[in-house]
Amino acid sequence: MEVFTCCTLLVLGCLLYAVVQLVRLVKADADLTLLWAERFGSSPESKLRGAVVWVTGASSGIGEELCYQLAKLGASLILSSRRKDELLRVKRKCLEISSLEEKDLLVVPLDLIDIGAHKAATDMVIKYFGRIDILVNNGGRSQRSLFVDTGLDVYQGLMNLNYIGTVSITKHVLPHMIERKRGKIITLSSITGLIGVPLSTGYAASKHALQGFFNSLRVEMGAYPDIEIINICPGPVKSKVVENACTEQYETSVETVTDQTHKMATDRCVRLILVSAANNLKEAWIADQPYLILYYLWQYAPTWGWWITQKGGQKRIQNFKSGIDADSTLVFSKKTS
Ligand SMILES: NC(=O)c1ccc[n+]([C@@H]2O[C@H](COP(=O)([O-])OP(=O)(O)OC[C@H]3O[C@@H](n4cnc5c(N)ncnc54)[C@H](OP(=O)(O)O)[C@@H]3O)[C@@H](O)[C@H]2O)c1
Repeated sequence: MEVFTCCTLLVLGCLLYAVVQLVRLVKADADLTLLWAERFGSSPESKLRGAVVWVTGASSGIGEELCYQLAKLGASLILSSRRKDELLRVKRKCLEISSLEEKDLLVVPLDLIDIGAHKAATDMVIKYFGRIDILVNNGGRSQRSLFVDTGLDVYQGLMNLNYIGTVSITKHVLPHMIERKRGKIITLSSITGLIGVPLSTGYAASKHALQGFFNSLRVEMGAYPDIEIINICPGPVKSKVVENACTEQYETSVETVTDQTHKMATDRCVRLILVSAANNLKEAWIADQPYLILYYLWQYAPTWGWWITQKGGQKRIQNFKSGIDADSTLVFSKKTS
């Protein structure tokens, strides 16, 4: 009888645990490990204050917001992207909203595709600050076009920018981190780095490449436990990513950008990136539902993942063809901030 009671309690306990996890998942906007770290782990305030952080793609969207939140944390910043005037605008705002001084912010205009310029840029940063604690590989470009309509230049261009450009900067910064035996390399991958997404074949390929590269590099860095390789995989987030996405040709961007309010707020995504950094999470999934469930299905139940992707994917293509945002009718509710 006692054994029977124990077994019943155990089963009930397991069921309760499963229900609690399911409820957490339905309400989640990031993977459960990251949300656990947000609640019980180290805070960005305790771990990132005073760090020297190099952010690529700092002139817009996620990179811009990263600069603001890092500035408020008291991190010294190197701001890089192609548009110097936009970087100066971001720098001015960082000075306005934080206690940072002019000397704490360095603007380094940089084209990720121009790999010949990356060594000089890295040397300049190290000379100025004496160290780089964190590299955030954020600069990049997306895609909105079907493979059958798209030129090969798009595939080459996206690989050169999102993959080779990121590998090149990492190649120059990593030896410095190895010398110091410490550092973090945070890379903006994407949900498309993990799962297949129609209209983004070239973009998804470049993000899958980043996943493969950094997952392998992390293992190579095993002898350096204080060098952290952190892959961030966001779903749709408010930014200029659709406006800047290439279409059938690399040089052509999306013509009309429709309503983006259904996407995750940029500040929420960035806060979760900083929590991931503070807690050295190897991979972070950041997305509202129904996207978040897709990551779990692809990871743990790929047959279902494929089935749902096929359904949602067709809807995405229909949305795109009818001129609205590809993801606009895939979401449960609109985000207000
Ligand atoms: N927003 C999303 O839904 C989403 C989801 C998953 C992943 N991501 C990833 O998050 C990262 C940031 O994107 P975002 O959403 O913030 O988009 P965004 O607003 O378009 O920002 C892209 C940034 O990349 C820079 N950039 C573009 N081409 C560059 C080049 N050749 N060299 C150097 N910098 C370049 C841009 O600056 P310049 O034009 O001044 O060069 C800009 O600062 C990207 O890697 C993107 O793939 C975004």
